[in-house]
Amino acid sequence: MYNHIISPYTRALHLKTSLDGADPSVTPIFQNSAFENTSPYFYTRKANPNSVEFEEVTRVLEGANHSISVTTGMTAISLVLNLLKPNQTLIINKDVYGCSHKLFQRIATKRNINLVILDMSLNIDTNEFPPQVDMVFFETPTNPFLKTINIQKISNLAKSINPKCLIVVDNTWATPLFQKPLEHGADISLYSATKYFSGHSDVMGGVILTNDKQVGEELREERFYGGAILPPYSAWLLRRSLQTFHLRMKEHERITSHYVEFLRKIPQVKTIYFPKIDGKQLKSYGGIIFFEFEDYLLDPYQRFMEALEIFGTGTGMACVTSMIAQPYSGSHASISEKEKEKMGITPKLVRLCFGFEDQKDIERDLSHAFRLLEDEGKA
Ligand SMILES: Cc1ncc(COP(=O)(O)O)c(C=O)c1O
Repeated sequence: MYNHIISPYTRALHLKTSLDGADPSVTPIFQNSAFENTSPYFYTRKANPNSVEFEEVTRVLEGANHSISVTTGMTAISLVLNLLKPNQTLIINKDVYGCSHKLFQRIATKRNINLVILDMSLNIDTNEFPPQVDMVFFETPTNPFLKTINIQKISNLAKSINPKCLIVVDNTWATPLFQKPLEHGADISLYSATKYFSGHSDVMGGVILTNDKQVGEELREERFYGGAILPPYSAWLLRRSLQTFHLRMKEHERITSHYVEFLRKIPQVKTIYFPKIDGKQLKSYGGIIFFEFEDYLLDPYQRFMEALEIFGTGTGMACVTSMIAQPYSGSHASISEKEKEKMGITPKLVRLCFGFEDQKDIERDLSHAFRLLEDEGKA
């Protein structure tokens, strides 16, 4: 050591409270980009205690070996699509979230990927598959319409053509509480953590889960070089939200069945969409449903939405407050009229997400808005 007096400015710059023995009862936010060179975390773009803790929690919930957290649900999908090489074939399901659909189309065009669209909710067999298949992507239940797809069956069909084909399930709407895709033949299960994992419409995130070590490592590298890691504060918030995840989901499950029964008695409701629960793959369901207005009602959505007092109208969903949305102008606005028609998405299709308000308030709000339609809007 050389003999010297360090200036207070230098000391002030380097001052750091020691965390040794601090033992906080929950993990604090590690809002730092860099770690000392002795740290296993290296650099927040690679890993951070908050992202790692969130990943560990999701890994436990899913029962998976590897978890990779990213900035949004769309980042999760993009990262997985980056596993595809030019001239490979991607099969997607007909019913899928509008932005995902758009992303598949964009990537297919730019990277010369052969994009094939099938309705996997139907009883399809191998001869409907193309001769080459490298990745299959679907949601089950689907957004919209909540159609269910037999993951094991699709996996068997695709792998009989190419054993290396990756089966990717967007499990955002089922959640790992009600469905574990990796146990049914999927290679990758991914989420928009912005939805039920957050549950409070206050943070965005995505997460990818897999049991395949090589796929997990490849995705981690993609994330590192692409800079897509979930930021510390988002990871901290999401981890905190997951403390109440199963309680929120059980309440979503309970109230959604209740409101479905309530809606069945409403004369202005033509069809209610609720997924088929087989008890094996999909154990239960709750939170988001769709319904269609009766044909005789003229342009009912705007009036109905405006008449509701309690339901929020933002893009958010799967959270503690109730929300209403029109897929036609919202979640599927980015796809063409023709594609919407093919998917059966009309302006009369409504998405409802049930939050935890008093049930009587929600029922009163809905009844009032439906009654108003009846008074004003007959053809
Ligand atoms: C099924 C599904 N997957 C992915 C996404 C995209 O997630 P994010 O908005 O977090 O990017 C959404 C968004 O609504 C979704 O509904």
